[in-house]
Amino acid sequence: MSYRASFYTLGCRLNQAETAVISRTFQEKGYRIVEFGEDTDLCVINTCSVTEHSEAKCRNIIRSVLRKSPQAFVAVTGCYAQIGAENLKKIEGVDLIVGTEYKMKVAQYIQTPSKLPAPVVLHTRRISRDNFTVEAIGNHSEVTRANLKIQDGCDFFCTFCIIPFTRGRERSRKLGDLLREAEELARQGHKEVVLTGVNIGRYFDEGRTLLDAVKALEGIDGIERIRITSIEPTTIQEDLVDYMASSPKLCPYFHVPVQSGDDKILKAMNRRYTVKDYLQFVERVVQKVPDVGLGTDMIVGFPGEGDAEFENSRRLLEESPLNYAHVFSYSRRPGTRAAKMDSPVHPETIKERSKILQQLSRKKRQNFYSRYVGRTVRVLFETRNEEGIFTGLTANYIRVGAITNLDLSRQFRDVRITEVLEDMALGTLL
Ligand code: F3S
Repeated sequence: MSYRASFYTLGCRLNQAETAVISRTFQEKGYRIVEFGEDTDLCVINTCSVTEHSEAKCRNIIRSVLRKSPQAFVAVTGCYAQIGAENLKKIEGVDLIVGTEYKMKVAQYIQTPSKLPAPVVLHTRRISRDNFTVEAIGNHSEVTRANLKIQDGCDFFCTFCIIPFTRGRERSRKLGDLLREAEELARQGHKEVVLTGVNIGRYFDEGRTLLDAVKALEGIDGIERIRITSIEPTTIQEDLVDYMASSPKLCPYFHVPVQSGDDKILKAMNRRYTVKDYLQFVERVVQKVPDVGLGTDMIVGFPGEGDAEFENSRRLLEESPLNYAHVFSYSRRPGTRAAKMDSPVHPETIKERSKILQQLSRKKRQNFYSRYVGRTVRVLFETRNEEGIFTGLTANYIRVGAITNLDLSRQFRDVRITEVLEDMALGTLL
């Protein structure tokens, strides 16, 4: 009889990439993977610590697993396991807590999923700074686009961010090792890989940069799209932008967090650019890369953000060529420098500002999509949504839907865009 294992991921895309690999290591040990929420013999929860709210959510998930499957072995890993092991130990029923350094080896530590008398903690503050390999291939059977981990850790120390403390200093995955995983992902039918890390613009392995990694990935048969996700503005090399302009596989798309449109706030955040630098970068990309999709992250309510500073952020989003913004409400994260800063913003004000930027972001996205009405785009289809529409993405990150009885999953199709709905462009299959 094989044991059942289930997984739950909180936090970022990097955590998702890591859970996919951890899940495979359990499969290789003979476990049968079941959906989270089903009865299970073992549950691995990959946690996030980015805000106190994320940590509370982690604790709730752990408790719900313990309620549903009291006999299940519960292993907790990820960022909260790294900096909050003491709190996690207090949750009765947790069996194993695994910090960042040992995270990818969780499966090795569990002989059989039999409950332990008290939680075992595997943890060190000395997180390796060396470039690394990842032993298994991610299990992405549920998704079309596979997240490929290429980098970990960060040296930038933005004042609001806990990640350098949860994941340690920057380091890159060995190029040969990430190519090996990408080749296997291609064999499994993944046509798009999404390059993932904390600060991927800092990728560096034996003299090879992010652009070298992209070029090497392009050589893999079956990988037809390579997508760069969130990348810090100051780390983007000009040759990467030039290459994007003509590459057949590197998606014309950047998600470049700006966080604020005000220089005083950017300085307080310890960001490494001014608003002018950022806008110049964005303009350059738009000029060089035809049809580029551009997104950003913005934080509202950082300490010291008055009406004028917020207005600068709003104006940046409104007037720049950015197509959308992910808007985050600032929340005080103990252990960061920003947590000690004066002039907190009232929660009601944060809520209002967040709403304003979200509305603006929706409008900008719709304007971007509207430019494509009447045009034909190439879509990599993923899955049917809850409304029954089959959806996928263009290379420049337009969510496109088609009404069809066909199963289009993992297929490239040409679609003529006919109209823009609230959150997608609707089209006709050609
Ligand atoms: Fe959260 Fe850690 Fe990612 S704090 S956002 S899971 S790097």
